Amino acid sequence: MTIDDIYKQYQNDILSAEEKINETFSAVAPAISMVGKHILVGGGKRIRPFLAILSSKLSGYDGEKVSTLACCIESLHTASLLHDDVVDGANMRRGRPSAHYLWGNQVVILVGDFLYANALRLINFLQNQSIMDAMTSATASMSESELLQLSRKGDPNITEEDYIKIVKGKTAVLMSAACRGGALLGGVSQEKEDALASFGLKLGFAFQIADDILDYMAEEKNLGKTLGKDMEEGKITLPLIYLLKDASKNEVERIQEIIKAEEMAISDLSYILELLKKYKSIEKSYEKARTFLKEAQRELEIFGNSMEKNALLTISNYVLSREK
Ligand code: IPE
Ligand code: IPE
Ligand code: MG
Ligand code: MG
Repeated sequence: MTIDDIYKQYQNDILSAEEKINETFSAVAPAISMVGKHILVGGGKRIRPFLAILSSKLSGYDGEKVSTLACCIESLHTASLLHDDVVDGANMRRGRPSAHYLWGNQVVILVGDFLYANALRLINFLQNQSIMDAMTSATASMSESELLQLSRKGDPNITEEDYIKIVKGKTAVLMSAACRGGALLGGVSQEKEDALASFGLKLGFAFQIADDILDYMAEEKNLGKTLGKDMEEGKITLPLIYLLKDASKNEVERIQEIIKAEEMAISDLSYILELLKKYKSIEKSYEKARTFLKEAQRELEIFGNSMEKNALLTISNYVLSREK
């Protein structure tokens, strides 16, 4: 099974979730509809709704509630991207100009607020306290971790542990909630619910590490985001954390100057890329991501073989092989 097979096989499930998102846009202020449609039409891999849908099916659920869950999760994710691009000053998203670049920060922040609030309003309709708990906790921890990340901006003393803590809150917890939500719809045993939640969490770590590697190494046209953005904005991610640990004193001093500088020259990025190669910092980061991925996959051993389990394993492998 490949990732494209999954898109084909579960196309209708994803479409139902997307229809729900579109419905929410048609009844609100025109600005919400305009910005919302811009970012949704721009694509996105829909990894999180897939996680919810596949987890629910793996847990024996085959009803309509999953489209509400999937819609809620993609809305939370989309809201976080709208806000993230304002905070990061990112001008490109999903291969198109980012929303704040087109319409300015004010509108985009308010649309993001609407998406967050509306996602939680929708999930409330499911009247499932445990799903509600998972979604509201994930939402709170995403905001908290974005703030924590901001507070460590440009700080060369950031450790791997600090980084992992940030990644957990900003990325892994939502993926975990997507999987737990699916499990809760199916009403599986606590053990299976926790295994799926843990699968999502560990997958989330691998996913963000891959994202942070891609920020240095991807083809910009595939990635749909500006390359070298993390470095430019002083965001110190795993490849750079490993590099700062291994580089010589002189090299570390130069790296610190680059991180602190207001602007980043192309030559600065090339210098960093050379050092990342010299000290195998990208390989080391991949190794870390692979370890998380293997741990994630092991969580699914509690389930018997099925197409959905196979699909979840395929998605997990895709997380590290992806180019966007
Ligand atoms: C981007 O997530 C934000 C991160 C957590 C790295 P995705 O890479 O899933 O974004 P889309 O939805 O596919 O654009
Ligand atoms: C993920 O971090 C942001 C969210 C979880 C919202 P990044 O800042 O690395 O995400 P991209 O690279 O902009 O998609
Ligand atoms: Mg960003
Ligand atoms: Mg990134």
